[in-house]
Amino acid sequence: MKFFVDTADTKDIADLAATGLIDGVTTNPSLIAKSGRPFAEVIAEICALTSGPVSAEVVATDYDGMINEGRKLAKIASNVTVKLPLTLDGLKACKTLTGEGTQVNVTLCFSANQALLAAKAGATFISPFIGRLDDIHLDGMELIHEIRQIYDNYLFDTEILAASIRTANHVKLCALAGADVMTAPPAVIKSLVNHPLTDKGLETFLADAKKAGIKV
Ligand code: G3P
Repeated sequence: MKFFVDTADTKDIADLAATGLIDGVTTNPSLIAKSGRPFAEVIAEICALTSGPVSAEVVATDYDGMINEGRKLAKIASNVTVKLPLTLDGLKACKTLTGEGTQVNVTLCFSANQALLAAKAGATFISPFIGRLDDIHLDGMELIHEIRQIYDNYLFDTEILAASIRTANHVKLCALAGADVMTAPPAVIKSLVNHPLTDKGLETFLADAKKAGIKV
């Protein structure tokens, strides 16, 4: 499963990219706004921090506007993936932009039927939002399982990019469900490495090594 980091904070991206564990980055208008930086500038910087796909979302809602913005975003760097909302105009723009060789991440997916449409539109990635479904007491993980089964039934190439991930448990469940990619905030990714027994065991090993005067 590929790991994307869901942020526009270039310091967090640089820190995680240095681990070699990150395969790409996703942003959205809210994350860009939080960065407080010009959109094209921060996307260009992020694209230089990773060779993997970097999702940059349009803010137009009409087909012509999406195409215009999508083409502009795609020109920023070769690893820009244009993010389009799951609307009819977004799906139409997806068909056009993927037909031009641009990678597209169709976002704000909350149902299997929406994901089916995105695959038919040629989406490179589909972003089902797990956390936001959980927030309204629906089962976000059930959607991942449904999309996986549908995509496998018809051999769709669209990659499931599990999004709106809030916990380490979401990451595990996405891997068990067969998501191709997960995107999570930096803190969730960093939390994956933690286990109290690892800390306790290392502490014991080091204390015993020190006691025995072990040197390497
Ligand atoms: O960026 C897309 C998605 O990961 C956003 O998640 O936490 O705003 O629901 P969230």
